Amino acid sequence: MITTLADIEKGLRRQEADRRLSRVRRKLLVMSGKGGVGKTTVCVNLAVAKARAGARVGILDVDFHGPDVAGALFLEARVEADGAGMLLPVPAGENLWVLTVQHLLEDPDEAVLWRGPRKMRAVERFVTEAAWPELDFLFVDSPPGTGDESLAAFRQVPGLEAILVTTGHSLSLADAAKAASFLRAARAPLAGVVDCMGTLVCPRCGEETALYPAGAAEAFAARSGAPLLARLPWDLEAQRLSEARGKPVVEAAPDSLLAGRLRELADRL
Ligand SMILES: Nc1ncnc2c1ncn2[C@@H]1O[C@H](COP(=O)(O)OP(=O)(O)O)[C@@H](O)[C@H]1O
Ligand SMILES: [Mg+2]
Repeated sequence: MITTLADIEKGLRRQEADRRLSRVRRKLLVMSGKGGVGKTTVCVNLAVAKARAGARVGILDVDFHGPDVAGALFLEARVEADGAGMLLPVPAGENLWVLTVQHLLEDPDEAVLWRGPRKMRAVERFVTEAAWPELDFLFVDSPPGTGDESLAAFRQVPGLEAILVTTGHSLSLADAAKAASFLRAARAPLAGVVDCMGTLVCPRCGEETALYPAGAAEAFAARSGAPLLARLPWDLEAQRLSEARGKPVVEAAPDSLLAGRLRELADRL
């Protein structure tokens, strides 16, 4: 086989990415079996909490069909490339950088129609052909399930661990079990489970009420051989403040039960 200049350049970019990634303290992919369980909310708020605490943090969004990181950060921007064609992650306030396909689209409502190989290649480009600054933490937001995007992320990011988000509902737990099985097959470590929206904070009195059978998420975590890292309440008021103030919950409603639990979770990482 003939080695081309392009092959050599690709190899050098790979080496540089591996060198850069080896210095990142923790690389965490937020995943789930089911959709709509709170992945993007967890991912973005953990990243913001860490960045506000002084760490240098990157968010890589590999959810190409539902890229919500930009929306969850209330960050409109366009990704630029430098002279060498390297993508420049978008700054999102002090210590935080974001790379998402949403910031590459001409029309914000445009659908990304990529299939398997195109998505695998895009993840590779976001990792090896992007000028990421030196980071302490990298959070990867993923689509639900066990598809190409998450697999590509584990291939492209050495040392990547998973945080598995689920609700306490039986269907969410059943799909989470498949995600855990995927991780075992991919030999990817599971850092822990997050139970999201398993309790409800009463908007009137602030009392926290369980929505699902007690211990369901905890038992799932134990079966998966990973710790239950957090129980995040369904907090409608914190969510409302986030929307109204145009900031993630940890910034928009720092005194809420949800923000407190998210900060505790960030501290455990
Ligand atoms: N703990 C929570 N309290 C209130 N709303 C939440 C909470 N977690 C997620 N949400 C809301 O639920 C919806 C789905 O969450 P999202 O993070 O987008 O899930 P996913 O990324 O898994 O699809 C969003 O509208 C989000 O704002
Ligand atoms: Mg999402």
